[in-house]
Amino acid sequence: MCGIIGITSTKPVTQRIVDGLKRLEYRGYDSAGVATLESGHINTRRSAGKIANLQSVVDAHPLHGHIGIGHIRWATHGAPTENNAHPISNGKLSIVHNGIIENFAQLREQLTAKGHVFHSQTDTESIVHLITDHLDHGSSPKEALHKALNQLEGAFAIGVLFEGHDLLLGARRGSPLVIGVGEEEMFLGSDALGLAPYTDRLIYLEEGDWVILKSNSYQIYDHNAAPITRPIVHIPTDNFQIAKDGFAHFMLKEIHEQPSVIGQSLSNVLDPCSRLPSFEGLNFPQVNAFDTINIVACGTSHYAAMVAKYWLEGLAHLRVNVDMASEFRYRKPTLISNDICLFISQSGETADTLAALKHAKAHGQFCIALVNVATSSMAREADAVILTDAGVEVGVASTKAFTCQLIVLATLSLALSLQTKASSPEQVTVHVEALTHVPTLMGQLLTQTETYSQIARKWLMGAKDILYIGRGTLFPMALEGALKLKELSYIHAEGFPAGELKHGPIALIDQDLPVIVLAPHDHLFDKTLSNAFEVLARGARVILLTDTIGAKKITQINDHIIVITLIETTDLTAPLLYALPLQLLAYYTALHKGTDVDQPRNLAKSVTVE
Ligand code: G6P
Repeated sequence: MCGIIGITSTKPVTQRIVDGLKRLEYRGYDSAGVATLESGHINTRRSAGKIANLQSVVDAHPLHGHIGIGHIRWATHGAPTENNAHPISNGKLSIVHNGIIENFAQLREQLTAKGHVFHSQTDTESIVHLITDHLDHGSSPKEALHKALNQLEGAFAIGVLFEGHDLLLGARRGSPLVIGVGEEEMFLGSDALGLAPYTDRLIYLEEGDWVILKSNSYQIYDHNAAPITRPIVHIPTDNFQIAKDGFAHFMLKEIHEQPSVIGQSLSNVLDPCSRLPSFEGLNFPQVNAFDTINIVACGTSHYAAMVAKYWLEGLAHLRVNVDMASEFRYRKPTLISNDICLFISQSGETADTLAALKHAKAHGQFCIALVNVATSSMAREADAVILTDAGVEVGVASTKAFTCQLIVLATLSLALSLQTKASSPEQVTVHVEALTHVPTLMGQLLTQTETYSQIARKWLMGAKDILYIGRGTLFPMALEGALKLKELSYIHAEGFPAGELKHGPIALIDQDLPVIVLAPHDHLFDKTLSNAFEVLARGARVILLTDTIGAKKITQINDHIIVITLIETTDLTAPLLYALPLQLLAYYTALHKGTDVDQPRNLAKSVTVE
């Protein structure tokens, strides 16, 4: 979480820092700030709330420096107030920080005993005083930073300005940090996205690296303070276009992009001649070389992993474990060499998933990263990378990245089913054919947005609690539907396997509780329908999503049930096509309630702290 931008230049930097922060808002939006060096003195502007507030402060009270740092915060230690906003300055230096200093309490106690006075509740302020302490004892900025880095525990990326020194220092351990190389100016940033308008020449700092930036030079050091070089990579900046293109919200735009990005992601993993799944070049072990696939992810990506488990077991007859990254790493799972670990992440930066990847790698696993950002930390750490082609996803609630993950996972399952000989090429061709129709079918679904808007207004926006139920792959989709709804509209929502309802959740049912039932006409349809009738019989209101064949079987129509008739699906296409109504129901419920669709409270798109 949190985003960092730094610039050393021969020109004013403030507005470019603020603009860079706007591109990093997906990392957090609790507060923001900027500091620049003017005639050797650090001046700081900060504000609580979104970046627009900082823009107003900077407009009213401009900063004119040519060297500066900026920060967008997702609060960990200390409330999201102006006083806790970064940069945190003390008259000698100023710091922006992404990550968590785990030994901050101990440092605070030691430094307070030495006479340092703390003014914020942040863990970051302990770095400010620690470096200051070394400066007070005669260290240069470079020496002070290096000594402080050796005393810090935790995961962090920082940028530091020093009074009286025309330079910018940066350091990373655990959290990503990149250097941008410009013309007579240098940049520091959390990722390529933030720096895209300024340069396409990037240097990714490695674990433990730190750097001294001047307007026309840089020097990188490793954790032992030995000078080191890292390669410059060219990243095409047109991959990082951010615009709403006439849509009211990024989320709505990204929902509508799904037909095209799904089509692109699918064609990337199909052989152009045979039209069979092709993951060649990935170089991952043949399926008979490993026993089990462990899939690890967080949030919506975790639900993609849960869907994939059904496909990999059902189609390829493989053993599959699915873990939440935050549990996997500390659970001490039994990892057998030759097993494969698949890490799914839109951003490729989620701290828990990245840590889980490193843990698995250290335990001899072949690690595959399925990510949407080619330059991400996971892509660089993994043994093999599969890219989704969703483009930049800005809305905090994942939509197009999720369905792109699903289509790639469906295709991967088919590829592995060929390897295990669980499916014949002819059978796989039938599945691929069904997948190729998904973009068109999604396009048709997206012509019915008004239906979802009306249901959201009449049935959902006034509810206090909402349940989602489904069976098979539609169970993780029920979880995903509930997650989308709660994160956007702040209505309590939960997903359950339909068969589990009677073991507890059914006690919640009353006339005020809508139940969204995901029931494609598959081999489980009759059972799911029975569960829908069970909750109807207890007074709940039911929104049932099915297809034309399913709809014909529903005879009990009254004012307590709405049937939404979708297109017929297969086991592989159902999660992809049911994702869209779930996204639209969540979107319109939030829209009608007036919550912030693209930046829901307390959340961030990229969660780079544990
Ligand atoms: C955050 C986002 C979710 C996302 C999750 C995992 O919680 O708000 O939308 O699913 O992180 O992110 P990843 O980038 O690893 O897929």
